[in-house]
Amino acid sequence: MNLFDAIDFADHEEVCHFHDRASGLRAIIAIHSTKLGPAVGGCRMWNYVDEEAAIADALRLSQGMTWKSAMADLPLGGGKSVIWGDPGSMKSPALFRAFGRAVETLKGRYYTGEDVGTTPADMAMAARETRFVMGREEAGSSGDPSPFTADGVAMAMEAAALHKFGATDLRGLRIAVQGLGNVGMALAERLYRRGAKLVVADIDAARVARAVETLRATPVGVDRILSIECDILAPCALGAVINDETVDSLRCRIVAGSANNQLHRPEHGDRLHQRGILYVPDFVANAGGLINIAQEVLSPAYDAGRTRTHLSIIPRRLKQVFERAAATATGTHRVADRMAHEIVEGRRVAA
Ligand code: NAI
Repeated sequence: MNLFDAIDFADHEEVCHFHDRASGLRAIIAIHSTKLGPAVGGCRMWNYVDEEAAIADALRLSQGMTWKSAMADLPLGGGKSVIWGDPGSMKSPALFRAFGRAVETLKGRYYTGEDVGTTPADMAMAARETRFVMGREEAGSSGDPSPFTADGVAMAMEAAALHKFGATDLRGLRIAVQGLGNVGMALAERLYRRGAKLVVADIDAARVARAVETLRATPVGVDRILSIECDILAPCALGAVINDETVDSLRCRIVAGSANNQLHRPEHGDRLHQRGILYVPDFVANAGGLINIAQEVLSPAYDAGRTRTHLSIIPRRLKQVFERAAATATGTHRVADRMAHEIVEGRRVAA
């Protein structure tokens, strides 16, 4: 692979490979940008098909973190680490301690944390070797980011509903939630309290049953949720759900969810725009968890109230994105990318 020419390379500042023979660690840390502050981004452990796939994931995710921090008005940059290996069979305390030593070599240019395939316990091991770990489960740390991510997505939906329908709240709107995990369930609870009518799907039947029982949600099969007729579709499970197969079958008027990289390619965002479906850029909508965890890097002591105040950046930023997209007849995904780039380059767009 020619790294500098890779499609996802996007001017990354630094991409480091780490190897520890004793524990079997093979890790890549990608730092996309430290222009606004130290790079932050979790550590993903995944059994990639090959090294190229692991690098591509690290590159794509670290750039996304730069955009997310910038749009959330955080003085932080973007980075991401991936550990190449099966999280089911390859984990050990030694592996995460070796990973912690790798993070330590970057001397605070990069802060890591939990992500897909890693747990707070894994990060506690890494933290024995480095202090550049966020989201540890201990007194004074920021705890589970998911409720704050859900708060931010609900606020993003309100901003989108106001822009699209002139609705001042979500009461009576039909909202389809794909995935009732940590974020999706917390989001569904918030939407229920706001008077929305829920339609839900998850591969885990127990989670669906809970939403049906406690939130009066209507269950649908996982193969139907994306094409269900609704006002807002909230992808809260997997990335790339808006793709060649699905983009023309969506029957919603807004897409706003927590999943990272919901558009398989930018062209799918263009297609949503053509179809008159308002896409809420994921890295703006789902920044609540990052806003919360960022306090561990930026503040002397954790204060949930500070996170709640900062969350208002999400609807303010979206209002700018929607207005600029309308004025230029461009898809919101392209406008948000450009705006994030401008913020990082110092042509700051205050919100
Ligand atoms: P999670 O793993 O707790 O929940 C995912 C849920 O989706 C699970 O309940 C799973 O059973 C379900 N699911 C998987 N495949 C499905 C399918 N085909 N159809 C329907 N449901 C399916 O993950 P979490 O933390 O709730 O995150 C959800 C999404 O939001 C992920 O894409 C994550 O990257 C993103 N995100 C999460 C943040 C957080 O604070 N946890 C922050 C920013 C983004």
